[in-house]
Amino acid sequence: MRRMVAETRLHPADLILPAFVREGITEPVPIQAMPGVVQHTRDTLRKAAAEALEAGVSGIMLFGVPEDEKKDGAGTAGTDPDGILQVAIRDVKAEVGDELIIMSDLCLDEYTDHGHCGVLDADGRVDNDATLERYAEMAQVQADAGVHVVGPSGMMDGQVGVVRDALDTIGKEDVSILAYTAKYSSAFYGPFREAVGSSLRGDRKTYQQDPANLRESMRELALDLEEGADMVMVKPAGPYLDVLAKVAESVDVPVAAYQISGEYAMVEAAAEKGWIDRDRAIFETLTGIRRAGAKMILTYWATEVAQKLSAARG
Ligand code: PBG
Repeated sequence: MRRMVAETRLHPADLILPAFVREGITEPVPIQAMPGVVQHTRDTLRKAAAEALEAGVSGIMLFGVPEDEKKDGAGTAGTDPDGILQVAIRDVKAEVGDELIIMSDLCLDEYTDHGHCGVLDADGRVDNDATLERYAEMAQVQADAGVHVVGPSGMMDGQVGVVRDALDTIGKEDVSILAYTAKYSSAFYGPFREAVGSSLRGDRKTYQQDPANLRESMRELALDLEEGADMVMVKPAGPYLDVLAKVAESVDVPVAAYQISGEYAMVEAAAEKGWIDRDRAIFETLTGIRRAGAKMILTYWATEVAQKLSAARG
């Protein structure tokens, strides 16, 4: 009876797998704070993409981790056509073609030696407009590598419009933009910083949003749509379900939510201690995000959950 009357249902196609690929390694490297998640080699990334596709997951969001000595102030490796992320996009495309939607993180923090999402001005502050020029170039190299969707995640003002123009200029009108519309300055990104070997000292409060604000997100939303966002995202997911619900009810584009590294780590850690039922907790968090209005959910459990959904009676 419950199955018949359930108002919210998860489907493998709602799920998108975020994945890390690290340059110069020959074995996957486990991420301590995210048990079960690794930094992939180029080879194991291809396998993870194939496995996700097989399970029915609809997309993969790629994050590149360059060799340490390739990091610099401008994040040059992020716009190198042979940089790790661009190489990984080509690898995954060769593996899954257009069957799995390939998405790429469009941000400089993985590639800068200071760890910020943008370039810095003479006073060491993140320079919004100089960063936009870098993002335009990033969008183009990622599109040239064959990505289907770019995900500008740096929270610079005007980033969606600049990326749209940059893509159109080189004839990549069909590459879509998943806008990180409401991205909060969150403590729950902690494990991700290990996952990408982040060099960040300090915080991202000058460009990411204050957790206290909801109206501000609605303004970010209006701007992103005006600038040409094809899909919009709220991030983190769990602590921001009210934001997600409001965004979902306000727009007619697809809405995504990102269940981030800290949300993953909390469940895994508590389950490891025997304090909660891992599988039930995972499904409950995802159902809550879906119920709040997310059509698509980025989650590190994507493949596992898709497999379980297919094995169950739905
Ligand atoms: C920025 C970016 C971050 C995440 C995704 N893209 C980190 C940040 O803003 O500090 C976090 C994802 C997660 O925590 O799972 N490139």
